[in-house]
Amino acid sequence: MGAAKHIVRVCRGLSCRERGADELYEAAKQRADGSPGVVVHACACQNQCELGPNVFVDRAIHHNVVAARVGELLDDLVRERSSA
Ligand code: FES
Repeated sequence: MGAAKHIVRVCRGLSCRERGADELYEAAKQRADGSPGVVVHACACQNQCELGPNVFVDRAIHHNVVAARVGELLDDLVRERSSA
């Protein structure tokens, strides 16, 4: 099994959690399950609370993420890994 190629971090600071980050985190973990090239972590507040919930995919930040969007982001990564 190779090292993870993509790291997804879901902010679980208070403000993002109040805007649904817990649901996003669980959705991301479920979607990444079984995809060794993608890992999902929680992260602390990134000082962009007013734009949350915030999700980082590698170095890119995504603001105001909803559950459907986190699914799309993970699907893209999983598809990329499975076609590599
Ligand atoms: S709580 Fe997520 S950026 Fe501050």
